[in-house]
Amino acid sequence: MERVGIVGAGQMGAGIAEVCARAGCRVTLVDLDDAALDRGLATVEASLAKAVAHDKVTAQEAAAAQERLSSTTDLAALQDVEIVIEAILEDERAKRSLFGELDGIVAPGAVFASNTSSIPIVRIATATARPESVVGMHFFNPAPVMPLVEVVSSLLTDPAVTDSVTAFAIGLGKHPVQAKDTAGFIVNALLLPMLVDAVRMYEAGAASAEDIDAALVMGANLPMGPLALADLIGIDTVVAVSEVLHGEFADPRYAPPPLLRRMVDAGHLGRKSGRGFYTY
Ligand code: 3HC
Repeated sequence: MERVGIVGAGQMGAGIAEVCARAGCRVTLVDLDDAALDRGLATVEASLAKAVAHDKVTAQEAAAAQERLSSTTDLAALQDVEIVIEAILEDERAKRSLFGELDGIVAPGAVFASNTSSIPIVRIATATARPESVVGMHFFNPAPVMPLVEVVSSLLTDPAVTDSVTAFAIGLGKHPVQAKDTAGFIVNALLLPMLVDAVRMYEAGAASAEDIDAALVMGANLPMGPLALADLIGIDTVVAVSEVLHGEFADPRYAPPPLLRRMVDAGHLGRKSGRGFYTY
């Protein structure tokens, strides 16, 4: 799949756009306004510069990737893409509405992929007249660095579509795993309880944020402590994923701790807002 549309120019959308452009795809990045697109393109530029500095790509390859990336506020520009990857906010109604609109724009036969962290793919699929072509394609933050992609099939997904998206993920240089359409898929269903447990431990005053993170980095060999990771993912996203998991499994362990909700109320969303458990 060489012509790719990405909807949502936030951290994840920009990261996925970079991954696709670096792999040789022509990428059209769409968001609601120019300011969002400018932020997304700046994210890509900064990440490509870092990739060059770390010798992951040459300056020429980075420049070529940037040339393959265009941006627009007009969804109609996605008419001829072979796959759309959606990375907008984690809200079921917004995603259904977007895919319903895309269904009338994008050529039949094109694949619709959602980067949702936790919303059942079937609920997104039924907003379209092509539910067999709708899959989850779940990247991890930061998308240009993290090797995994979860390819998620709903009860309505055509197995041939799952296979072609799996092959596409390999072409992007990623390691795909196939998951069923249960809330949280594989990674978030296992990772989120650890993150919210760490928040509860902090909330209970058992240790400082720095010591909880240092303990898991130095005592359990994680690349990053759970509270720093929550800041990286985005506190609002952690709350949204916890709510979906709690709604699906009714296990109190998944429920978002009150502190996380208050942080969202306060606008302390982690790295993207400059403040979360840490200040950036
Ligand atoms: N492009 C390509 N490679 C890059 C890069 C870029 N823009 N930026 C960094 N790298 C490479 C570096 O070259 C280095 O590679 P090396 O190990 O081969 O030398 C490696 O990435 C690490 O780079 P840095 O040391 O500069 O580290 P950073 O501070 O930039 O990033 C981290 C570190 C990758 C974020 C690391 O801390 C980490 O792995 N943290 C955990 C991230 C994680 O768990 N993410 C998943 C979150 S869950 C999720 O997203 C799901 C959602 O649904 C909630």
